[in-house]
Amino acid sequence: MDMKIKDRVALVTGAGQGMGKGIGIALAEEGVHLCVNDVVEEKAVAAAEEISAKGVDTLAIPGDVSSYADVKRCVERALQKFGRIDILVNCAGIGDSGKFIDTREEEWQKVLGVCLMGTIYFTREVLPGMMERKWGRIINIVSDAGRIGEPGLVVYSAAKAGIIGLSKALAKEVGKYSITVNCVSPGATLTDHIQEIYEKMKAQIGEEKFAERQKKVLRRYPLGRLGEVEDVASAVTFLASERASFITGQTLSVSGGYTTV
Ligand SMILES: NC(=O)c1ccc[n+]([C@@H]2O[C@H](COP(=O)([O-])OP(=O)(O)OC[C@H]3O[C@@H](n4cnc5c(N)ncnc54)[C@H](O)[C@@H]3O)[C@@H](O)[C@H]2O)c1
Repeated sequence: MDMKIKDRVALVTGAGQGMGKGIGIALAEEGVHLCVNDVVEEKAVAAAEEISAKGVDTLAIPGDVSSYADVKRCVERALQKFGRIDILVNCAGIGDSGKFIDTREEEWQKVLGVCLMGTIYFTREVLPGMMERKWGRIINIVSDAGRIGEPGLVVYSAAKAGIIGLSKALAKEVGKYSITVNCVSPGATLTDHIQEIYEKMKAQIGEEKFAERQKKVLRRYPLGRLGEVEDVASAVTFLASERASFITGQTLSVSGGYTTV
């Protein structure tokens, strides 16, 4: 199916690796040009280079999404090169490091800063151009933790739930400009980062205990497997496309049935 977004311009945050990079690749396969943001400059540059092999124009825009000054600079650079941003994917995110009672203010501020404020900053800076051109797609990567709550990820759950609320309200404000605002909500997804965590866990508790634990985890996924980056990237590409022009204010879980709300 032709997604009808060839030559659109997208900006993906946290796209230096994992899901963000996968989303960038999937959009590029539809002929979308890409601005690749990441806080780690080398990752942004390498991902932009990799994505450009798909035959689209790319631009690395390193910067910290939790800094409004950085975000303004990133959007300015993107507009200098492409003149517009049609599709914004807010993907950069970090989680808490353990039980809420053991975490501290600095960590709460960091999680809220990257997940929630980063989404607010980029959305605010990209929106005026979309309103002017009367076309836009904003897709926020949240998490099933934000839909049902996840122990050990309390502030992260709050941040992601905040983004869902923001998306619903904004969808109602900007619908008249043919701008849609939606969320894609992954469950556990096998990114490099998650694989690393699993490897560490395996080393800590041993192969056997790890396998037992994973069996238990999989029981909560009716489709019997964890997510792949491509599962999430496909959903984002659809919501970014012309084909999804009548869908707004929604949260789509891409989690094999883990959450059915
Ligand atoms: N992987 C999962 O299981 C899972 C599940 C649910 C939701 N999510 C969400 O999906 C998104 C991507 O997750 P992932 O697993 O690909 O993560 P990841 O850790 O593999 O990649 C995140 C990328 O964002 C970048 N980043 C971190 N802080 C940043 C900042 N302040 N500014 C700009 N870039 C920054 C990192 O350098 C990294 O390249 C996140 O929003 C995450 O909360 C992931």
